[in-house]
Amino acid sequence: MRAITFADPGEPDVLRVETLTLPQPGRGEVLVRVMAAGVNRPDIMQRKGLYPPPPGACPRLGLEIAGEVVACGLPQEGTTMPAIGSRVCALTNGGGYAQYCLVPAGQCLPWPTGYTAVQAAALPETYFTVWSNLFMPAIPPAGTRVLVHGGTSGIGTTAIQLVHALGGEAYATAGTAEKCALCETLGARAINYRDEDFLTRIREMTHDKGVNIILDLVGGAYFNRNLKCLAMDGRLVIIALQGGAKAEQADLARIMTRRLTVTGSSLRPRDSASKARIAQELHTHVWPLLDAGTIAPLIHAVFPLEDAATAHQTMEDGEHSGKIILQVSPD
Ligand SMILES: NC(=O)c1ccc[n+]([C@@H]2O[C@H](COP(=O)([O-])OP(=O)(O)OC[C@H]3O[C@@H](n4cnc5c(N)ncnc54)[C@H](OP(=O)(O)O)[C@@H]3O)[C@@H](O)[C@H]2O)c1
Repeated sequence: MRAITFADPGEPDVLRVETLTLPQPGRGEVLVRVMAAGVNRPDIMQRKGLYPPPPGACPRLGLEIAGEVVACGLPQEGTTMPAIGSRVCALTNGGGYAQYCLVPAGQCLPWPTGYTAVQAAALPETYFTVWSNLFMPAIPPAGTRVLVHGGTSGIGTTAIQLVHALGGEAYATAGTAEKCALCETLGARAINYRDEDFLTRIREMTHDKGVNIILDLVGGAYFNRNLKCLAMDGRLVIIALQGGAKAEQADLARIMTRRLTVTGSSLRPRDSASKARIAQELHTHVWPLLDAGTIAPLIHAVFPLEDAATAHQTMEDGEHSGKIILQVSPD
């Protein structure tokens, strides 16, 4: 099979097409003939050598795919194996930038009604991440105010739509007027973080009540302002550290006096059982919304598999909104 590989970390031009042996599914795994694969910011970090795959994971790039099941391993107790020939989208344990990819069966979901491979491949990484961080262990009550940093990222466009569809009030930051307009279209009240102080604006917009939850991808540089944005009993969820891993002069008193929760998570190192639990919840709560067209992935651009380097460069240029997808074979 053809797959994208790289020998040493570096710029997008380290990516190359290699011919590899077709993998065989083990117990509880399926082999998927990949039609499309999503590109995510963690792939960029992995290519740069800043995000090594967890032990036991496929070392190649690609965290999400859509395609057709072509082989199944022996069944695993408690896991339903998708039928051969069924069309699935899946959160992979790496290796999605390829013509075939092995995936644990529990991490597969069906294509929503009327979806193409490109649309289906745009779902797993952001939906698993957003659902597990914002809606597990419980869906917040209607009216919950949620601030989403990076509102037009793949993660952000998913988070805004889900918050809005499930009865919450979404607020989002973005770096241009156009991106702010898109956040508003998706259902959020937007703040241009380059022109305005998001803390001041959140206080104005919420009449000093603050937000109940923040989904943050900036980390250190936003830590104190994030704490100040939170209402009593609020929750800060950190899922990336684009603004650094250290919070200087962190105001811990605010956590204590406002009963705040500071948490975070990384999807990739979670075990297959935990990813399967997220998949089941998505199937129950989110797939009906996708089937009905209430929410939908936003596709910025599609590149052929061989142009993975251009896809990475496009993401690094930062002008995209929503998802960047690799088309591996026709639907
Ligand atoms: N923890 C996990 O399990 C997990 C899983 C998947 C992804 N992630 C992380 O989630 C983030 C989004 O991933 P993606 O694939 O959706 O990437 P993406 O589409 O490339 O988005 C990156 C986003 O970061 C925003 N950003 C950068 N600096 C910012 C700042 N100072 N304030 C507000 N926004 C800022 C950008 O906003 P503008 O373009 O408006 O400047 C852009 O929307 C990445 O950091 C990724 O590593 C975490």
